[in-house]
Amino acid sequence: MSDLKKLKDEFISKLRGKSNLSEINQIKSELFGKNGLISTQFKKIGTIAESEKKKFASDLNIIKDELQSLINSKINEAENTEINKKLEQERIDITLPERSFVRGKIHPVSQTIDEISSIFSEIGFSVEEGPDVENEYNNFTALNTPENHPARDMHDTFYLDEKKQNLLRTHTSPVQIRTMIKDKPPFKIIAPGRTYRSDSDQTHAPMFHQVEGLHIDKDINMGHLKGCLNYFIKEFFEVDKIKMRFRPSHFPFTEPSAEVDIGYEMKDGKIIVGEGDQWLEILGCGMVHPNVLKNVNVDTAKYQGYAFGIGIDRLAMLKYGINDLRAFFDCDYRWLSHFGFDPLDVPSNYRGLSR
Ligand code: PHE
Repeated sequence: MSDLKKLKDEFISKLRGKSNLSEINQIKSELFGKNGLISTQFKKIGTIAESEKKKFASDLNIIKDELQSLINSKINEAENTEINKKLEQERIDITLPERSFVRGKIHPVSQTIDEISSIFSEIGFSVEEGPDVENEYNNFTALNTPENHPARDMHDTFYLDEKKQNLLRTHTSPVQIRTMIKDKPPFKIIAPGRTYRSDSDQTHAPMFHQVEGLHIDKDINMGHLKGCLNYFIKEFFEVDKIKMRFRPSHFPFTEPSAEVDIGYEMKDGKIIVGEGDQWLEILGCGMVHPNVLKNVNVDTAKYQGYAFGIGIDRLAMLKYGINDLRAFFDCDYRWLSHFGFDPLDVPSNYRGLSR
């Protein structure tokens, strides 16, 4: 066997079974490095007798190519194995079960406020806000409520200081004052929010919700008030006709004043709005008293209008069949998951808020 053939066989058997990249590279440099065995054989060519030179060179080239392609394929194989190993180690296990999560529910009061805001924005009302902590001036004085009025009584109002200058607003009417001081007439706003009175039973909570309405312009009269409330109640309860009754009443900030009842009946333990001969009071309203307009520098010779204050919680109770007001504020998750609204489930009569 020629030396070249021996060399070839030796290295073929050396390479056999080798899969480690650095071992293969080691063999590669043993053969093809600067002083490697193959390189040395090439250097030998010059010393070989002329007659054998051609065959030797051609054999050497063949062996060189064979060994080179063997080594290259081994290197390839080793590299692939390494990459596959890496991929295997870094694999993300997508079969892992997702973490459980709880999707929150929208509280019926928030839902009702959204519905109310959406209905009033359809007929041109914009939404205003005021703070829960008010001063006595905005809550009473500016609203034409005299010093000795029973509404100021300690039993009804949560005062925050001895001098009775700051309080938790007892109604949303101070937002009328804030809006009219801030801007110029005409005004057409609603103001939903929290209100507070020292009161607690099945239909009264110390914290409850109202939505104030105020429409001041030239020539606004009580007919507009009736039309607006009629439209609102029909839209809110999603009925074509309703029974509505205006009862004369008294508020210091409106003249004339009225309370509004809606007709309903009980059918199989459910409240049906718009039928029957039972009445439920849902709001107070009237034509804004000239003294109130003067307090906020609105020219009473030019402007007049109406205001109303609706009890939101009561509307929500009626619409969604909830019979104890206190459950609204108990923060019981079981109650909320039953009566609450799915944030992704938009009710059919919801049109979105346009301000
Ligand atoms: N603020 C009154 C209340 O809380 C309701 C109301 C608002 C009445 C506006 C007339 C006009 O009872």
